Amino acid sequence: MKLRSIITVLFLTVYMGSTLADDGLGKTHAITITAKEVDLPIDNDGTMYPTWTFGGTVPGPVVRVTEGDTVEFTLVNDENSEHSHSMDFHAARADLLSDFADVKPGSKGSFTFTADYPGVFYYHCGSAPMTEHIARGMFGVIIVDPRDDASWPKADREYVLIQSELYPEPDSEEGYLRNEWSNVMFNGTIFKYDPVHDPNASQWLEAKPGERVRIHFVNAGINEFASFHPIAGIWDRVYPSGNPRNALHGLQSYTVGPGDAATFDLISPKEGANALVNHSMRQAMTGAIAVLMFSDDADPDMGRGENILPR
Ligand code: CU
Ligand code: CU
Repeated sequence: MKLRSIITVLFLTVYMGSTLADDGLGKTHAITITAKEVDLPIDNDGTMYPTWTFGGTVPGPVVRVTEGDTVEFTLVNDENSEHSHSMDFHAARADLLSDFADVKPGSKGSFTFTADYPGVFYYHCGSAPMTEHIARGMFGVIIVDPRDDASWPKADREYVLIQSELYPEPDSEEGYLRNEWSNVMFNGTIFKYDPVHDPNASQWLEAKPGERVRIHFVNAGINEFASFHPIAGIWDRVYPSGNPRNALHGLQSYTVGPGDAATFDLISPKEGANALVNHSMRQAMTGAIAVLMFSDDADPDMGRGENILPR
């Protein structure tokens, strides 16, 4: 073997070795979520609704990993459930038939995937009828942070907003297919963060002027498109599917279809309020508005840790 070939072989060996070692840096997350059929409030007055859930809340828990990480996922279906449930992670490349298969009440199912693409991804139950399983509340978000922190500007605060539709007759498959929703909600509650339109709302989103506020927006509605707009603001950047490589600049509104998600950055130069709204007005006026208050006194805990999705 000539010297040049030997050097080439040595180089490739070292290079591939370092690639493999680098891949090995990804963490492995063992994540278990239990499907539960429970009644939950769907407005700020405490009106109850027969929801089906991941983990007993609507939306389900925020799952957060880093690009390249491995997720060892287990779905437990509570023994008190009356229906089979399943898990479809939009962040996964998997086998629909085996990995996303139905799990019967009282049993569990597992699958493993690597989070190969950074972004903000919807997850939902895929059991039939999928209309009903999603609309009753079986949805959430998995955030896959980019491995390279420098691939986008650092956010000072983050919030998760997941839009869904409320169907007043949850047993009516026809109602879902005829699009007979009564309200559109963010994070499972009508006007959850809007004390302007609902005096019983006790929460809103907070940030300081000049801070980069990052909204991870998911459209879990089974039928409606969302035209997501910040009233009195401009999206500094929008990242379709939440991937830093998809950056768009200076947008007023951006459409997120059913089953899709995007990440929105917003910076306010002054104190005051913005309203994050689905600008499709029937959706806004039935519940899809979240107030974001910009104040120098903003609560330092809001938009951080558990409070990226205020419950
Ligand atoms: Cu289900
Ligand atoms: Cu899906």
